[in-house]
Amino acid sequence: MDAVANTKITVIPSGAALAADVVGVDLSLPISAELFAQIRQAWNDHLVLRFRGQKLDDPAFLKFARLFGELDKAPVHAGKDVVNPFPEITVMSNIKVDGKSIGNLGNYEAVWHTDMSYNDLCPIGSALYALEVPPVGGNTGFANMYRAYDTLPAELKREIMGKTCRHDSSRNSAGELRKGAKEITDPREAPGAIHPIIRTHPETHKNALFLGRRQSAYIIGMPLDQSEDLLNRLWAHATQKEFEWPQVWKVGDLILWDNRSAMHRRDAFDANSRRLMHRTQIKGGKPYFDAAVA
Ligand code: OGA
Ligand code: MN
Repeated sequence: MDAVANTKITVIPSGAALAADVVGVDLSLPISAELFAQIRQAWNDHLVLRFRGQKLDDPAFLKFARLFGELDKAPVHAGKDVVNPFPEITVMSNIKVDGKSIGNLGNYEAVWHTDMSYNDLCPIGSALYALEVPPVGGNTGFANMYRAYDTLPAELKREIMGKTCRHDSSRNSAGELRKGAKEITDPREAPGAIHPIIRTHPETHKNALFLGRRQSAYIIGMPLDQSEDLLNRLWAHATQKEFEWPQVWKVGDLILWDNRSAMHRRDAFDANSRRLMHRTQIKGGKPYFDAAVA
């Protein structure tokens, strides 16, 4: 009989507000429905899963990611010149070959964000797999937006009830202007999708704070100064250390995050070190707020 992955996994919570290590599974082996159900449950419980010590080529990585649903094609990003042979694999890297960037985001800091929230349909989540990591820096922070919502002061909760926010599509999380995008000075004029500020998770049926990115965000229908003030208060609350868990990368780490309930950011790192990640993204749906959920 061919080798299959263990059917029993051990899930070790990070001890922080989110994230857990999943131990005892080789993701390059076939994964039974029983094992997948356990992984899916652990993902809903912990928002971010880390599988250490994996050895995955692109086809094996794609096979694992496809268990979660249909994958998005690699997005068009600023600063990327080289196309990967697998259209559903995005390369995140600062490495240049013959002066051309092989991936996205360079070595810059990436500010807190939800992936592609500027689109009407937002990915369920993504998996990032580490092939090369810098000796220092380039850590990725994740923050629990259920927790941020649950701990909102009652006053703030009331202020955002029923409100929607526009998620600026003109810049990426490293602050670079996307290809073909115009410079935005007034957030009221930013392009991008409009979503509820409180979103209900379709699987856990819990509510999460849904902010996207701070830059050029705008709360629909408010005078600009009030929108800015409310957004500043929401962001100050949502980015508290107690909601966060930092991933310090090792080669062979695969991190799977839930884009509906967690935000992420990345530290900058030395331009002279190399960081190389392959990434897959699971197609999602339209964020919604279910008023029946408390
Ligand atoms: C991403 C992202 C951060 C990182 O892939 O969506 O934000 O650590 N990456 O490279
Ligand atoms: Mn991202």
